Amino acid sequence: MKSYAIKVYGCQMNVYDAERLRTAMAKEGFCEVSVEDKPDLVMFVTCSIREKAEQKVWSEIGRLDARWRGKGKPLIAVVGCMAQRLGSKFMDRFKSVCLVAGPRNLGRVPSEISRILKDKERVLILDDPKELADLDCPPLRRENPWRAYITIAHGCDNFCTYCIVPYTRGRFRSRAPEEIFKEIDLLVSDGVREIILLGQNVNSYGTDFKDGYRFSNLLKDVASDKRVDLVRFLTSHPKDFTEDIIDVMAENPKICPAINLPIQSGSDRILSLMNRGYNVEQYAKIIEAIRSKLEDVAITSDLIVGFPGETEEDFQASLDALRHFRFDLVHTAAYSPREGTIGAKMKDQLSEEEKYKRLNMANELQNQISYEINLSLKGKRYRVLLDSLPPKGEGLLQGRTPTDKVVLVKGTPELLGNFVEVTITGAEHWCLRGRLEKILN
Ligand code: SAH
Ligand code: SF4
Ligand code: F3S
Repeated sequence: MKSYAIKVYGCQMNVYDAERLRTAMAKEGFCEVSVEDKPDLVMFVTCSIREKAEQKVWSEIGRLDARWRGKGKPLIAVVGCMAQRLGSKFMDRFKSVCLVAGPRNLGRVPSEISRILKDKERVLILDDPKELADLDCPPLRRENPWRAYITIAHGCDNFCTYCIVPYTRGRFRSRAPEEIFKEIDLLVSDGVREIILLGQNVNSYGTDFKDGYRFSNLLKDVASDKRVDLVRFLTSHPKDFTEDIIDVMAENPKICPAINLPIQSGSDRILSLMNRGYNVEQYAKIIEAIRSKLEDVAITSDLIVGFPGETEEDFQASLDALRHFRFDLVHTAAYSPREGTIGAKMKDQLSEEEKYKRLNMANELQNQISYEINLSLKGKRYRVLLDSLPPKGEGLLQGRTPTDKVVLVKGTPELLGNFVEVTITGAEHWCLRGRLEKILN
């Protein structure tokens, strides 16, 4: 039996892709081991979102290529966003790389790997941005037995000027609802209780259908499945966020009151340069609608600092937005120029030093806000699915509140997979601490 190891970088879509690849590789007769176990092949599921994400993969491949030169193994396969962006560069640089395949061609990967290991060929599969040769297999080999990601739409057509995703993931295409329901069916039969619907812009789900079936319809239909306990989704795009989504959430307690609505900047001038398609006032109206209709909702956001031409005043406007909106959590990032995007060619690029100075200031402010919000939750009770062991902390179990906050409680592993009632007893800026009151199920 041939063995392989898999290394996964990047967003939840990559986690989902990797889980399906694992399932498909098992069907193809491969046994998964760790990189240290001297596998025949190592597969990298890669991300291009920022320079740093790519550097990690280059250095890891370099390390393995040195091992390969002595022993003839492991061979290396690179799939995902970096594979599409850089294609043959991997093969030019490293002799051990035998397969490079873009994210829209994952369906071909397992059989090609079998063939390559036999025929000792090298294969480069670049995506046609409109075509799709997807894996036809549900994510049965998951990181988490009770929670599953499902991509509901491929690609992105928004072309925000900083972003590489439209170039790596290709054109937007919604998956047919029947296909999604079929997958959910297999997943709940496999013990899954929580479904997370994924898309770069879930709000535009269905805009490429002719029958008017939209994201709010899908959300409602997924939640109506009696065997599904919790439904979450990400990411929402402010320019396409419509109130029917809030209404469906308000009517359905199974749909968690947690919305990730990336603002990216608090300056209208920068938002326009970013091609985001909304201004701060329009963004504020959505937040108002969400908070007025959904009790106890948590709103998280994404923010980029140091976009080309971002003045001190623009940056202050972003800090003001953090103070004003008081998000539960914000994924902040220093702008990283991506070759081929419009942003990378803009003048007035900021120095790394300035970008990181601004990043630290934004983080400091947001961490304080998140901490204050979390602290105010002391004494609250939540229904929580205990789903994993935290990376640190003996005797602790981890779950997420309906508002998508990590909560740690004392408990023994046999409780995993159960819904429990938790009282919040303490907080940090990134998590809550709680006391287990009772098992619910
Ligand atoms: N589709 C989502 C986000 C996808 S990328 C949306 O529209 O919001 C995830 C996050 O990475 C983005 O929200 C953005 O904050 C960050 N990001 C994307 N490109 C970046 C770049 N070139 N430099 C820094 N951060 C970036
Ligand atoms: Fe990138 Fe914008 Fe598409 Fe999000 S919406 S993936 S930020 S281009
Ligand atoms: Fe990265 Fe591609 Fe996701 S660039 S963030 S893996 S869509």
